[in-house]
Amino acid sequence: EQMPLQVNINGTMRQLSIEPRVTLLDLLREQLHLTGTKKGCDHGQCGACTVHVDGTRVNACLTLAMTTEGATVTTIEGLTNGDPATAQLHPMQEAFIKHDGFQCGYCTPGQIMSAVACIREGHANSPDEVREYMSGNICRCGAYANIVDAIMDVKK
Ligand code: FES
Repeated sequence: EQMPLQVNINGTMRQLSIEPRVTLLDLLREQLHLTGTKKGCDHGQCGACTVHVDGTRVNACLTLAMTTEGATVTTIEGLTNGDPATAQLHPMQEAFIKHDGFQCGYCTPGQIMSAVACIREGHANSPDEVREYMSGNICRCGAYANIVDAIMDVKK
């Protein structure tokens, strides 16, 4: 049975109809085709699905879409808040490029959403603090050192 859901996604208010059991991750990827948010483990272990709900980072795979009623969801596509064709990259995206903060890139959207939250929430005062905050975002390629460098660069 479908339920109504009103949620602001990347600056656009959406009136949706969804099944109550659907996760935010599947809503974003399957229904809205916002595939920048990745599905790695689908069990809260990898961080590939990290998005912001009302400015707080969450694992979209562990969040029922229904719980975002009335909320504001930001995905990697909405980070620049503009037309993707013309928008400037977010400073964190620029820093990931500058510091080679990725190799295969699969975990990168989740890494960047966590990285932005890391600074916004005041957890980027030292590389150790950044490593601790970012520990839920797994990178198979092992780009961790460069990711920390990118975050510290944006912080300064
Ligand atoms: Fe959500 Fe891995 S897909 S934490």
